[in-house]
Amino acid sequence: MSTANAAALMADIKKLKTEKDVALLAHYYEDGEIQDVADHVGDSFFLAKIGQQVPQKNILLAGVVFMAESVKILNPEKTVLVPDLGAGCSLVEGAPFEKYREWRLKYPDALCATYINSSAEVKSISDVIITSSNAAQIIESIPKDRRILFGPDQHLGKWLSKKLGREFILWPGACQVHILFNAQRLAKLIEEHPDAVVIAHPECDDEILKYASVIGSTSKLLDEVTNNSAKKFIVATETGIFHQMRKSRPDVELIQAPVVDENCMCNDCPFMKLNTLEKIKRALETFQPEVTLPEDLRLKASVSLDRMMKITSGQPVTWPDEFKG
Ligand code: 13P
Ligand code: SF4
Repeated sequence: MSTANAAALMADIKKLKTEKDVALLAHYYEDGEIQDVADHVGDSFFLAKIGQQVPQKNILLAGVVFMAESVKILNPEKTVLVPDLGAGCSLVEGAPFEKYREWRLKYPDALCATYINSSAEVKSISDVIITSSNAAQIIESIPKDRRILFGPDQHLGKWLSKKLGREFILWPGACQVHILFNAQRLAKLIEEHPDAVVIAHPECDDEILKYASVIGSTSKLLDEVTNNSAKKFIVATETGIFHQMRKSRPDVELIQAPVVDENCMCNDCPFMKLNTLEKIKRALETFQPEVTLPEDLRLKASVSLDRMMKITSGQPVTWPDEFKG
């Protein structure tokens, strides 16, 4: 798209947002123009939290649908829109409700910690939701004598388990973007750039994470680039985050961690990248597509999300003794 076209669309979006009382929230993996026109940009936990704080009656979430569902679950009175309802997530697809429920039923005494990258149905049969930025705090709040089911991201689960010294029964899901980084090519790149700080998202495989000196959510990786005085970073996560990294540190060299095939664009999340300025403008004009959930499902899913919100704000929580289905 030409710069003039993008600028015109961004001006229209700004006007429509005000006229229609809409807060535009964007994830760090969206295109730079979308991040620049948004009212708030952040990681998945931030987006869930800020959805509860914005004064606008309506929210348009430029991210993936599970993020918008979380906002709807926590804010039933608000109209929640997305640019494209097809913006799924391989972790959500890899954890269908019935299969996740069967897995849960095998361990009724265990508590189930589920990554926010999951459907509302899966959240409704989970005990607590975690994100990559609050995962350690949430897991540490679970009583030591309880077994833990952790899903759907096995790599985040393995990393956490090692970091916290707690055993998990893992669901075998993965992010289709983060598992495509290539360890051999990364090792070679590190040899060529010994002065670079390697940072990675915990959805990456162990083979990649072992090279990283900083592992964390998108916001943690951005903070690292912003605050570390190093001049070079190798970044193992989706490409959208480079936009804010370049804005906060125009003086540093940012190198994309290499993927399996050097010719593929596989560091772009195809779901996040379904969103465009045109679709955002259309959603503001038509108030479609809207994210809606049956009220009984919303209420059930809110239990695990509310528990996450309480733990992160220091409030006490209680845990169920067993899962009854
Ligand atoms: P963050 O919570 O770190 O933003 O991650 C969301 C996500 O989908 C990573 O692939
Ligand atoms: Fe899902 Fe991976 Fe895309 Fe994140 S990057 S939204 S985990 S497919």
